[in-house]
Order: sequence, then structure tokens, then C-alpha cells
Amino acid sequence: MVGLDTMNAAYVESRGPASSIQYGQVPVPRCGPTDVLVQVEAVAVNAVDTFVRSGAYQTAMPFPFVVGRDLVGTVVACGSGITGFRSGDLVWTNSLGHGGRQGAAAQFAVVAADRLYHAPPGADPVELVAVVHPAATAYLGIVVHGRARAGETVLVAGAAGHVGRAATVFATRVGASVVATASATDLDACRRLGAREAFDYRDPRLGYLLRDAAPDGVDVHLDTSGHHDLELAVELLAQRGRVVVMAGLSEHPGLPVGSLYTRDGRIVGYAISNASTTELAAAAELINELAGEGTLEPGPIEELPLDRAGEAHARLETGQAAGVRLVLRPAHG
Ligand SMILES: NC(=O)c1ccc[n+]([C@@H]2O[C@H](COP(=O)([O-])OP(=O)(O)OC[C@H]3O[C@@H](n4cnc5c(N)ncnc54)[C@H](OP(=O)(O)O)[C@@H]3O)[C@@H](O)[C@H]2O)c1
Repeated sequence: MVGLDTMNAAYVESRGPASSIQYGQVPVPRCGPTDVLVQVEAVAVNAVDTFVRSGAYQTAMPFPFVVGRDLVGTVVACGSGITGFRSGDLVWTNSLGHGGRQGAAAQFAVVAADRLYHAPPGADPVELVAVVHPAATAYLGIVVHGRARAGETVLVAGAAGHVGRAATVFATRVGASVVATASATDLDACRRLGAREAFDYRDPRLGYLLRDAAPDGVDVHLDTSGHHDLELAVELLAQRGRVVVMAGLSEHPGLPVGSLYTRDGRIVGYAISNASTTELAAAAELINELAGEGTLEPGPIEELPLDRAGEAHARLETGQAAGVRLVLRPAHG
């Protein structure tokens, strides 16, 4: 047991700007019968954490509300009904901090057992926490909503980003043929992750190059950049192809309606916040397998102490963390 009544946490008293994040003492959460109490080692900072904190993404939040949704940590206590976890286990979750659940950015967090997963043996907490949100997002886009199958063509736009890298790996893993777009300097990295072809998204001939690379059409089009060119995406689509939309919170692109329905095409959107515990657990199984074999690349990481959570949110919102995963580290002892 923890033996403490209070702990340090990064929290807000109401929805507001990054500057409203406070660092201080809140009560240590208590385990219910199906919960696990985790000593937090590392917490990722995601764009969605800023959307929840500001109110841009509306979700139930108990105040004072601890920010953040992903953690890696060590089990310190289990509810009376828990059989699958024991004190000392290294574990992770990626679904705290929304839907009425408290967040992860604290010394301790209570996690419902059906949202908690064992870490792969020997996992580094910081590297693991950096991938669990983008990788689960990629799994949902490629497997659950995109329904990519072996032999299909998957276009991953923004394939060198955090979600895009994992999407390229997952699509390759299901046996699809991946065509990627990214910055010119990242094209080799996309091919190394499994992309059959990779193109500079700034190339003025991009539409022509993509048409040439996918002559039978694109079956799944996942654009992680948020800059949706639906004219091009629908034009590239194979019969019964799927355009998967998961970024660009305030985008309003035009849609070529006739080109979509004459292909029996679909546009499907999703947010990881809506994923079921069954879907998240399926993602976790694959993430653990790939993280265990070192296939999921976390990319550049910057560690910050937990008391700089407000600064981390501000940097993410102002584009001062582009390409870098910010990871918060609570101090213990
Ligand atoms: N729906 C959900 O559940 C969910 C979950 C997680 C994340 N998201 C969202 O997904 C998005 C991506 O997240 P992330 O962490 O992967 O971000 P990221 O690492 O910044 O990746 C975005 C990538 O897009 C590239 N890019 C920019 N403009 C492009 C364009 N016009 N065409 C193709 N690629 C382009 C960027 O390349 P350069 O940097 O080289 O320009 C970058 O590598 C964010 O908007 C995030 O909020 C949604």
C-alpha cells in the first residue's frame, strides 16, 4: 500500500488555458474492487490532453481534474477483485483523463483493470509511454475503422509522424501495400518502416505520383496531417475504398460527392476517446508485441519533470514541440 493521503499532481480546477494547470497536492485516489493503484513513472503529453483541458474536446471531467491520459508505472495495490496484476508489475494505460476518469499526470493513478496492460519484458517506461497513444490511434485507423486487409493498398499521409509511423507498421503487418507521404527528408525512414513507395507531400506532382503508385486505387486513405485534400483522396479511392479521418479538429474541406458515391466509397471518422475497452485491449496486445521486438519507433523524446506540465501543454499548443514527444516524470521518494 502507498501509506500516503496526498500526492503531487498536475491538475486544473476548471477548463481553461495551459496556464491554468496547477502543480500541487491532491488526495491519493482509492482503489475500487476492480481497480489497480499505479505508481506513475512516465506520462505522455498529447494534443488531445490539451483539447480536454481547454474544453475544445468536451468530455466529463471531475474537478480538480488531473490532466493526461497515458502512463507507464508500477502496480502498488490492487482492488479485492483483481487477479491479473500484482504489486511490482510494470504496466501501462492509454485511456485515463476523459469520460469521467481522472488523468495520469500525478505520482499515483487508479486504473480500471480492463484499461491496464502489462508492459513487455524489459520495456523502458519513457520509450513505451511515448508510443502507446499514437500506436493505438494507428491501430484503430488501420484495423478497426479502415478495415485494411492483406493485398489492399493503404495510403498513409504524414507517415513520418507519431501516428503515421505506427500506421505504416500496422498496415504492413496486416499484409497491405503501403504508399506514404512525408517531408522529403523522411522518405527513407518511411520505406524502412515498410512503405512500398514514399513521396514528398510538398511535391507539386504529388497527385500524379500517387495515381501512378496505386493504379488500382487506394483502399484505405489515412491522413494523419489534418490537412485534408478530399478532392484528391476521393479521386484516388478504389471501389469500396475508405477515407479515414482522424485529425483536423476545425477543418472544413470540400467533398466531391459524386466521385465518392459512384465508387461506393466511404468516409469514416474516429477518435480514440470513443474506443471500447475491447478495441483498446486488442490494440494493446499488438502494441506490446511490436514494442517488445523494437518495431515501434518512439522518435525524439524530451523528458520534463511533472511540475512543468503547464509548460508542456503550452509548447504543444504553440507548435514548439513539433516532432518531439514530451514525457513528464513524477518524482518519488
Ligand atoms: N483521432 C484520434 O483519436 C487521434 C489520436 C491521436 C492523434 N490525433 C491527431 O493526429 C494528428 C497527428 O498526430 P501525430 O502525433 O502523428 O502528429 P505529428 O507527429 O506531428 O505527425 C504529423 C505529420 O504530418 C506531416 N504533414 C504535415 N503536413 C502534411 C501534408 N500536407 N501531407 C502529408 N503529411 C503532412 C508532418 O510532416 P512534417 O513535420 O515533416 O511537416 C508530420 O510528420 C494530430 O492532429 C493529432 O491531434 C488524433
